[in-house]
Amino acid sequence: MLIWMLIIIIISISIDFVLHFFQLAWIGRYLGYFGTFLIAISFVYSIRKRELFKSGSPKTFLMLHEYLSLVGAVLILVHAGIHYNGHLAWLATIMLLLNVASGIIGKSILRNAAETIEIKNIELSEKGLSVDEIEKKLFLDSITFEIMQKWRIIHIPISLMFTILSILHIISVFIFTK
Ligand code: HEM
Repeated sequence: MLIWMLIIIIISISIDFVLHFFQLAWIGRYLGYFGTFLIAISFVYSIRKRELFKSGSPKTFLMLHEYLSLVGAVLILVHAGIHYNGHLAWLATIMLLLNVASGIIGKSILRNAAETIEIKNIELSEKGLSVDEIEKKLFLDSITFEIMQKWRIIHIPISLMFTILSILHIISVFIFTK
């Protein structure tokens, strides 16, 4: 997890450096909006998970959540490097880092769970279930694992805090940059 966090921070600093080098630091302001947009889009996973629509596999949407929020986080970090204009922005950035760290931990828990249910996969295919049915059944099974439930108690409130702080930060920017 630490190595991934380090990679994310190094990529963000490098992008920030390149933008400054070409005197394009102003772009950072808009990267904040774009990063937020990508993270918001990544929540299509939550809608798919609750079966509000049925097309596409939940696994694909989870991957989308992971990658879009990672890219979104990098863009927001570049944005954060440009202008720290108060405690709210700092808090939102810390929450973002905690959010990403907890997300990466959750991903590795799921991967380990997936290895465990590989055995179940073989059993189900021997019972004659189709590949699609097995994938759906095993994916939903894996995320009900007790350890995942405990992990959600951390990831979801952090996400909520991050969302609230980001909204407050955006509102304060609109109020104070008149
Ligand atoms: C700003 C960044 C992020 C936010 C705000 C966020 C938010 C959330 C939320 C609210 C959920 C619950 C979904 C639901 O039950 O409807 C969730 C689930 C999850 N997230 Fe994130 N997340 C972020 C980043 C990440 C990252 C970077 C990863 C992994 C690389 C990740 C991996 C996961 C996983 C594995 C789940 C569990 C899926 C499940 O239990 O259904 N998240 N995330």
